[in-house]
Amino acid sequence: MSYKGPKGTYDVYPGGREPHEKPELWTWVEGVAREFFRRYNYSEVRLPLFEEVGLYVRSVGKASDIVRKEMFVFHDKGGRELSLRPEGTAGVVRAYVEHGLYKLAQPLKLWYLGPMFRHERQQKGRYRQHVQIGAEVLGSDDPLIDVEVITLLYGIHRALGVKDEIVYLNNLGDLPTRRRYIPELAAFLKKNISELDPDSVVRIETNPLRTFDSKDKNTQALLKEAPVIANFLSEEARAHFDTVKEGLKAVGVPYAVDERLVRGLDYYTLTVFEAKSAALGAQDTVGGGGRYNGLVGELGGPDLPGIGFGSGIERILLAADAPEEDPFLHVFFVVLAPEARLLTFRMVAALRAEGLSCDLDYAERSAKGQFKQADRLGARFAVIIGDEELGAGACSLRDMATGAQRTVSITDGPEELLRALRP
Ligand code: HAM
Repeated sequence: MSYKGPKGTYDVYPGGREPHEKPELWTWVEGVAREFFRRYNYSEVRLPLFEEVGLYVRSVGKASDIVRKEMFVFHDKGGRELSLRPEGTAGVVRAYVEHGLYKLAQPLKLWYLGPMFRHERQQKGRYRQHVQIGAEVLGSDDPLIDVEVITLLYGIHRALGVKDEIVYLNNLGDLPTRRRYIPELAAFLKKNISELDPDSVVRIETNPLRTFDSKDKNTQALLKEAPVIANFLSEEARAHFDTVKEGLKAVGVPYAVDERLVRGLDYYTLTVFEAKSAALGAQDTVGGGGRYNGLVGELGGPDLPGIGFGSGIERILLAADAPEEDPFLHVFFVVLAPEARLLTFRMVAALRAEGLSCDLDYAERSAKGQFKQADRLGARFAVIIGDEELGAGACSLRDMATGAQRTVSITDGPEELLRALRP
């Protein structure tokens, strides 16, 4: 019997073919993201990979594709209905309310990195388990926070070499805006119901805004005539939007307003955004997010605002110029005399303690086999210890790229070798 990884998943392993299958690229992306969060003063949160289904129904929305079709739902032995997390915002807000984090200094700036699960049809850049880098800022409605969050997302993408990225921006209005706009949109859709695809017909009742996400050609053509929210914005919503645009201009983030951008999750208010790369095909959204000023209250907390983004690392890697791989290994020890193995092992330990990556033969290879192994592992140097070297209290150091070789004394321990390895 042999097994394959579940549909819509992938493995990360040495020699992985696709960018998101290469472990060294994950280490790189995660390192860059952490450094950005440090500079922007965000704290890490680590939350469960599953939550109560009700949390997602309440926040992401019962009419959303995520809740209707994409959650991995199961029951625990106590009969509770749980779901693998399809996204990170709901869990963060749940923890914010549960632990009373609104009592800490606000705004509270948080970040996370981890897998999300959505039962979607697999295609390039779309998986059933994907990994998001996310940020959430709670407790401030300052539009400059919106600018900070978008700048942070864009900055991480830039540092990782994501090509040709533009941030698409819209404002979905505050509650008064929506109260005026939604009935207008619904009335327009009802009037033209015969032009709509069946999904969009259902959405007239559940969430008319989401009809803008329809892929149906007729529906899309009709929506070109639909009233747009921009004409309904309250004065406050418009002022908020203007400040966000000015801020993005001031820090040089390339953006474009897309009046039909609505996003697939129901909790959004005011600012929404999606960062798209021209380097990607159908799944061109590298990251997205927005404000959710009603969500904390909706989940039982005080009436406090929030905003955040999520960005899929697989898509970042697809859209990025991945760097040339650094040699993985600093030194491979070639041991020619069996009695030199323990001495070699001491040397390896000393070098590792100094921060160098080292390895040696564990398969009783011949001299030739060991050099070949050094080569395959991409070692920068080989250190050769044999009878002759043992007798002389020295080892030979070979530069694997040039083949140049010299003798280094080890009579007084590893110091001289360390000096030779660190130019
Ligand atoms: P989202 O747009 O559903 O937003 O997902 C964020 C990002 O996750 C997408 O832009 C994409 O890069 C990646 N992504 C989503 N689904 C998949 C998939 N099936 N395969 C690969 N990558 C995927 C959210 O999840 C919100 N929680 C973002 C947010 C945070 N809004 C406010 N705060």
